[in-house]
Amino acid sequence: MRILGIETSCDETAAAVIEANPHDKTVKLVTNVIASSLPMHAKTGGIIPETAARAQIQYILPVIKQALKESILTHNDIDTIAITYGPGLIGSLLVGVETAKTLSYIWKKPLVPVNHLIGHIYANFIDSKLNADIEFPALALIVSGGHTDLVLLKDHGKIKWLGGTRDDAAGEAFDKIGRLLNLSYPGGPAIEKAAELGNPKVFNFPRPLIGSDDFDFSFSGLKTAVFREVKTIKKLNNEIIADLSASIQQAIIDVLIKKTLKASEKYNIKSLLLSGGVAANQKIKEEFALKIEKLKLKISLSVPPKNLCTDNGAMIAAAAFFNYKEISWKKLTANPELYFD
Ligand code: KG4
Ligand code: ZN
Repeated sequence: MRILGIETSCDETAAAVIEANPHDKTVKLVTNVIASSLPMHAKTGGIIPETAARAQIQYILPVIKQALKESILTHNDIDTIAITYGPGLIGSLLVGVETAKTLSYIWKKPLVPVNHLIGHIYANFIDSKLNADIEFPALALIVSGGHTDLVLLKDHGKIKWLGGTRDDAAGEAFDKIGRLLNLSYPGGPAIEKAAELGNPKVFNFPRPLIGSDDFDFSFSGLKTAVFREVKTIKKLNNEIIADLSASIQQAIIDVLIKKTLKASEKYNIKSLLLSGGVAANQKIKEEFALKIEKLKLKISLSVPPKNLCTDNGAMIAAAAFFNYKEISWKKLTANPELYFD
C-alpha cells in the first residue's frame, strides 16, 4: 500500500510517499520532500511561529506535488493520507491538517492522524533491514527540539510513557546553549561541529537527574551552568568554544545514555530505537553503540539516517501504517498539546 505522509508541526513543510507491504511489514521509502524555513529562523536565532506558518502555507501544495512527481505517481496511486495532528505549533499544524482533510475529501482517500512523537519512533521502521527484526519489547528515546521522552513499546500500538523532560528538551538545550556561544542556529549541529576539535574533559558541567530513581530528564540547569561559565570567560575564542561544546555535548550524552540504559534493564528490552533531531548527532549514536558493546547487552540499536531523524513526512506515513486508525476528515482537528495517552 502507498501512503502519503504530511508533516507540518514545526518549521518544516514535509511530504513523503512510502510503499508498505502488509504481508512482510516492510516499509520502503519512495520519496521524501522537505522544505524548511530554517534560514529565516536562523536570522532571528529561533522559530517565530507566525513566520513558520506563513511559509508553510506557501510551501505545502508545491511540496506535496513534488513528492508525487518524484515518485512518478498521481494521487490515484495513493491509498492513504497520513497527517501529523499534534503536538506542535498551532498555526503550523493547521496548515497540514486542513490540507490533508481537503485532499482526503476531494481525492476520496482514507485519512490517518498521527502523533508527531510516535512518528519520530517509526523513522526506525523505514527501509531498515532491521525493520522486520525490531523485536519487542522495544524502548524508544525521542530526543528532539521540543521533547525528550523515554517510551516503552510492548508492540505496535501498545505504548507506555516512562518519563520525559521536566523543563528544556535536549534539542532545546543545544539550541539555547548554541545561542550563548554565538553559534549558528540550530545549536545542535553547530555544537556537534564545534565539539569535533574540543576536549570534553575541560569543563565539568552538571549531569542533571543522572542518578534519580525515575526516567525523567532536566536540562535547564545545564544551560544555567554554561551561562555562568561563559560569564567568567573574558573572551570566547575558537579553542574555548570547542572545549565548551565538547563538554556540553558529553554532559547531555552521559545523561541520555545512563537513563536510557537504566530503563532498558528494568524492562528487559530487546531493541533500542533512537529518534528525533538530536539522534542525528554522530557522537550520540557512537557512544550508545560503544556502551551497549562494552556492557555486552543483548540489545539491537537502531538509529534512523540523519534526514529521517529530523522532522519528515516519511516517519508519519510509517507510523500510520503500523498504527492504522482511519478517521473521517470531518472529525479531525489539530491538537497542539497532544502527548502520549
Ligand atoms: O526532531 P526535530 O527536527 O524537530 C522537533 O520535533 O523538535 O529536532 C530539532 C532539534 C533541534 O533542537 C536541533 O538543534 C537538534 O534537533 N539537532 C541536533 C543535531 N541535529 C539537529 N542536536 C544535536 N546534534 C545534531 N547533529
Ligand atoms: Zn520532531
